[in-house]
Amino acid sequence: MEAEKGIESLILAIEMVDDYTKGHSKRVQEYSLLFGETLKRAGYPVDLDVLSTSSILHDVGKLQIPAAILQKKGRLTDEEFEVIKKHPVVGAEIAEKLNYSKDIISTIYHHHERYDGKGYPSQIAGENIPFLSRVITVCDTFDALTSNRSYRNALTPHQAKEIILENMGTQFDPSFEPYFRQVYPSLEEIALNKSEVQIAPTLFSEKYGS
Ligand SMILES: [Fe+2]
Repeated sequence: MEAEKGIESLILAIEMVDDYTKGHSKRVQEYSLLFGETLKRAGYPVDLDVLSTSSILHDVGKLQIPAAILQKKGRLTDEEFEVIKKHPVVGAEIAEKLNYSKDIISTIYHHHERYDGKGYPSQIAGENIPFLSRVITVCDTFDALTSNRSYRNALTPHQAKEIILENMGTQFDPSFEPYFRQVYPSLEEIALNKSEVQIAPTLFSEKYGS
């Protein structure tokens, strides 16, 4: 119970500095657990406890990113994006200081890696990326795409699903495809029921993700 309160406090602190992530951590956790359960039923090695903690804490490193960058309206400059890119490393450091397990620390550290090795911070690829980081990155992107950002309006869940499927093998683990299709109706239901108003997209940035 106390541990849960500690996590809630951290999430509240992130959301106070980063308005755009309102509800993001909690939703990414919900999506990750649904997707993780689906993958576990299919025989993948999924530790749901590790997944639960690392998915809700994945962006905790944003606490150390200047609010002026997190709250900036409009597109980020390359320099600002480099600062944002430090958040997985900082997040892992925070998790380490709070004595979370090695698995949780490395899952947070690698949640922005891409399957093709073009992510960050380590630019590792494929199976070298911790399995649960590969799960979280799909759910993180799904929530980012279905949420309003300063530079674009939210996409519909269906549009987000299509983008994720198109990026299987480049950004995401391609072996996830059938299971993502399988879990999608449950993700869609949550995305459609969140309080944020869904508005048709006017602009789409290649720097999606959060
Ligand atoms: Fe992140």
